[in-house]
Amino acid sequence: MSTAPAPSRDPKPDAEPEIVISVRGLRNSFGDQVIHDGVDLDVRQGEILGVVGGSGTGKSVLMRSIIGLQTPDAGEITVFGQPVIGRGDSELQPIRKRWGILFQGAALFSTLTLAENVQVPLREFYPRLSEKLLDEIAAYKIVMVGLPPDAAPKYPAELSGGMRKRAGIARALSLDPELLFLDEPTAGLDPIGAAAFDQLIRDLSKRLGLTVFLITHDLDTLYSICDRVAVLADHKVVAVGTIPELLALDHEWIQEYFRGPRGRAAEEANEAAENEAAANAGTGDAER
Ligand SMILES: Nc1ncnc2c1ncn2[C@@H]1O[C@H](COP(=O)(O)OP(=O)(O)OP(=O)(O)O)[C@@H](O)[C@H]1O
Ligand SMILES: [Mg+2]
Repeated sequence: MSTAPAPSRDPKPDAEPEIVISVRGLRNSFGDQVIHDGVDLDVRQGEILGVVGGSGTGKSVLMRSIIGLQTPDAGEITVFGQPVIGRGDSELQPIRKRWGILFQGAALFSTLTLAENVQVPLREFYPRLSEKLLDEIAAYKIVMVGLPPDAAPKYPAELSGGMRKRAGIARALSLDPELLFLDEPTAGLDPIGAAAFDQLIRDLSKRLGLTVFLITHDLDTLYSICDRVAVLADHKVVAVGTIPELLALDHEWIQEYFRGPRGRAAEEANEAAENEAAANAGTGDAER
C-alpha cells in the first residue's frame, strides 16, 4: 500500500526492494485543465505495476512525464536514481538506453518493415552497428516475442493487430532494457490474443528480470500478471497495492471498477485459472 510500510518480518535490512521509478509531488496541467496535482508513486525493481484510472485521468501523461517527454509544472521524478525532469535528450541518454517503450496504439513506423522498426532504437543509440548485426538482433527479438521469422520483412499494414503489438514489444526490447513502459498493450486484442499477450509480458519480465510500468484498462491483465496496481483518480495516485488490498479500500471508483460486472468476471476467471494450476501441480506431484 502507499501508506507507511508494514513492519517487516524479514530481519535482513536489504530485503526492501529497490525503487526503479520514484515520483513525488507531480503536477501537470494544460491551460486551465489540471491533470495531476500531487502524484506520488514508487515502482519497485522487478515488479509488474499496473496503472489504472478512468479515461483522461492522465495515465499516458504520467508515463510521458516519467520518460521525459512531458515537462511537469512541479514535482520530482527519478528513474534508476537519476532525476529526469528538465534534462535534455542527450543528458537522459544513459537512462533512455535502459528502458523500452510501447506507446498507446503501438505506433510502428508504417514505411519501415518489422525488422527495420525493431532496429530504430539500435540505430539511434549504437550508430556503428553493422547491418549484419542489426539484422541478427532484429531477427532474435522478433522470435523472442513469438512472431514467425518470416514476418521480419513485412510492413505494419501486412501484420494483424496482435502481431503489431508483439512487434511493438520487440522494438521496446531492442536495447535489452531493464525497465519496460507499456501503454494499453492489450487494447483492441481479442480475449485469447490478450491472454497470450499477458503471458508473453509475464514470461519476458520473469526471464529478463524486467520492471514493468503497465497502463491498462484490462481487468484480466491486472488479475493475471500485475504484482501491484496503482489507481489514478482525483488528480493523484489514490492507492497502490495488490488487488485484495485495493478491494479493502472504501473508494468509490475502485469499488465500481473492481466490483462491477467486468471486475467480478475477471476475478472469477483468475480464481478458476489459479485452481486449475494448483490442481495440475497436484497431479504432477502425484505422478513423480
Ligand atoms: N499535449 C496535450 N495538450 C493538451 N492536453 C493534453 C495533452 N496531452 C494530454 N492532454 C489531456 O490530458 C488529459 C489526460 O490525458 P491522458 O492521455 O494522460 O489520459 P489517459 O488517462 O491516458 O486516458 P486513456 O485511458 O483514454 O488513454 C486528457 O484530458 C487529455 O486531453
Ligand atoms: Mg492513455
